[in-house]
Amino acid sequence: MLAVQASLAGEGEGFRHGAVASVNPLATAAGVNALKRGGNAVDAAIATALTLGVVDGHNSGIGGGCFILMRAADGTLTCIDGRETAPAKAHRDLFVIQGKLDEEASKTGPLASGVPGALAAYDLALAKHGKLKLADLLLPAAELADKGFAIDEAYEHRLEGLADKLKLFPASAAILLKPDGSPLKKGDLLVQKDLAATYRAVAEHGIGWFYHGEFAQKAAAWMAANGGIMTAEDFAGYQPKLREPLHTRYRGCDIIGMPPPSSGGVHVAQILGMMEAFPIKELPTVKRIHMITEAMKLAFADRAFWLGDPDFAPVPRGLIDPGYLADLRARIDPEKATPVPAHGTPPKPNDDVFGKHTTHLSTADAEGNWVALTQTVNTAFGSKVIIPGTGVVMNNEMDDFSAQPGAPNAFKLVGAEANAVAGGKRPLSSMSPTIVLKDGKPILSVGAAGGPTIISQTLLAISNIIDLGMSPKEALTAPRFHHQWAPDLLKIESAFGEETLKQIESLGHTLDRSKGFGACQCVMFDDGTGTLVPAHDPRNAGGADGF
Ligand code: GLY
Repeated sequence: MLAVQASLAGEGEGFRHGAVASVNPLATAAGVNALKRGGNAVDAAIATALTLGVVDGHNSGIGGGCFILMRAADGTLTCIDGRETAPAKAHRDLFVIQGKLDEEASKTGPLASGVPGALAAYDLALAKHGKLKLADLLLPAAELADKGFAIDEAYEHRLEGLADKLKLFPASAAILLKPDGSPLKKGDLLVQKDLAATYRAVAEHGIGWFYHGEFAQKAAAWMAANGGIMTAEDFAGYQPKLREPLHTRYRGCDIIGMPPPSSGGVHVAQILGMMEAFPIKELPTVKRIHMITEAMKLAFADRAFWLGDPDFAPVPRGLIDPGYLADLRARIDPEKATPVPAHGTPPKPNDDVFGKHTTHLSTADAEGNWVALTQTVNTAFGSKVIIPGTGVVMNNEMDDFSAQPGAPNAFKLVGAEANAVAGGKRPLSSMSPTIVLKDGKPILSVGAAGGPTIISQTLLAISNIIDLGMSPKEALTAPRFHHQWAPDLLKIESAFGEETLKQIESLGHTLDRSKGFGACQCVMFDDGTGTLVPAHDPRNAGGADGF
């Protein structure tokens, strides 16, 4: 198995006790500290996730949602769906005013948010497999929020572009902007007293404070006063869901993915399923990119039509049926790009069905506990709303619904009836936390951030490790590409080199050249050294550490 034989020479050390990879060194340090205090990979993941809510709050936080995939030391697989739900009063035409789509309302302000699920999911993950208490993990993060931290370049850039929208909401402006309304700059201290108090209140009273108590009341009052529809009852009714992990095979490995309402697991599995018949290792680069791109197009055409919350819309299991994938694969012409006019029709589409800016973190420990956790408030700073007095950034996950069939969202993704808005429904996601097993033993935890490119980043990282024998760092550094069917554009990193890009163009692909996209994190088991090797995406800041 190439993955576990990869040479780590020059890669930095692997770790014997536990490892954490995230997009932020302070968050990774919180995870490693949880391990050092006697916690396991689950405690480390939740410590990292809660700290990301403080130091990387434009991407994720307790005002958002998450998917958590866990493989416990005893081999148990657990999949927690902490995706936000639409408020009960939401309906199909929520964002359609007099027949016209209000494109901003699903992205900014009171109607943009779903009921947050992250905190309930963390609590459930700890109850299932953690060793430490939620309070043990909240309090160090609260201290960081209280003392403040110097913002980095990525944070500065996020603030720069969004200052005008953040100004619309006084509580957001008071925390994230300077008194003159200008955004904080790299090196400025971001102090979040309200968020610290929120974390401490949850530590003291439990998650009931958030879902049934003071937070729910404050959020509902703000929503009512500002034209929102989310109520205290919506918070009280929120439930994280235990889902059956999606289990497929790729080149002798078990690929454990996130089922709907993520589209991630289904389409990582679909694309890998089509790729399995290709000699990926032997293919020249141009041919490899072409064949995988064609597989991506077919999968994303299916995504646009079939995928939605399985509790509301029938999502066919046949999408990952090997026979169906062979039929899709047969449509791929190795010599040129083939138009994909519409989705496919998997077997038994109505009878055999499944019962969705962002950040990914991976953890693992020596006992054999592994976690892949992807969490989000959707686009940067979500709805831009901070509920006054709480420091909590509310998500804009309502934009992940298809507001109108065929109308593209912030990621230019289109959807159909399966992903229409409905009260209590979860919007479709691309988040793809994935754990790979070999002979029953975990060898990789991986996932990514970046809307629909999450799916492509995740499957390319898996293929780079399994097919091409790359180390974790090499796998995440390698140039990447992504095709989501509509728009008909192959997003591809210029690092492939202009000569390669021209050859790909000559096969009929329209290229969207990119300097770099995505943020993929992973932990891999290296059986040569018996160590856990974390890696963070070199395109961004990040922390990969352990002990
Ligand atoms: N909000 C991005 C996703 O869940 O795919």
